[in-house]
Amino acid sequence: MLEAARQAGIRIPTLCHHEALEPYGGCRLCVVDVTRPEWDGWNKLVVACLYPVEDGLIVHTDTERVMETRRVVLDLLLARSPNTPLIRDLAREYGIDRTSYEVNPEPTDCILCGLCTRVCDHIGVSAISAANRGAGREIAPPFMEDAPPDCIGCLACAEVCPTDHITYTQTIGTRTIWGKTFEMLRCPECGRAHITREQAAFEARRNKVPESYFEYCDECKRKKTAGTIRGLSRTG
Ligand code: SF4
Ligand code: FES
Repeated sequence: MLEAARQAGIRIPTLCHHEALEPYGGCRLCVVDVTRPEWDGWNKLVVACLYPVEDGLIVHTDTERVMETRRVVLDLLLARSPNTPLIRDLAREYGIDRTSYEVNPEPTDCILCGLCTRVCDHIGVSAISAANRGAGREIAPPFMEDAPPDCIGCLACAEVCPTDHITYTQTIGTRTIWGKTFEMLRCPECGRAHITREQAAFEARRNKVPESYFEYCDECKRKKTAGTIRGLSRTG
């Protein structure tokens, strides 16, 4: 339903959804009201990211019940992450300037949307997961180790994180994320540090190609392929 609404230009707010991943239904922010003519006025709240579109379904995206549910979600998130710009802006949009709950004594930008762990699982690495309970729940390496041993430094988690909670640093030869430092492979053509050695090895195993396939960066690979095709068409 979320997809259909977006195609129709109707905005439904989301926090745990990413088009590259399976819907999860974790944040409850995309809640909408649905009914059908044969339901005799009965309606129910559903999460748009998980609910399938059906012929005859009537969807209301801004009823008072919908708005109130989203307000509760944002009020709670504001208590956990009172300094996080994305949450502050969304909460303000729903008329909340201050949370009505007890403010987290250790504010965090992690809203526990689960996108980072899901993308890591999706890639097949599963280097990080949720740890602890209650207000102390956080995303961490297994067994709260200093650095996740299976991490390949691909940055997928940092890229999907909606609040930029996952930070990393990169120099010409290294990348550091989750407390782990990786050596970067540099493209022999343009010199760009484009992939970690661990990610190249992982991708080579997964795609059953030699590791040397990842020597060149994607752009130089494309240029080389285009050059080969041009050469072939000249000789052909
Ligand atoms: S670190 Fe970012 S992506 Fe992961 S759960 Fe927290 S907010 Fe979501
Ligand atoms: S976006 Fe649908 S529940 Fe989070």
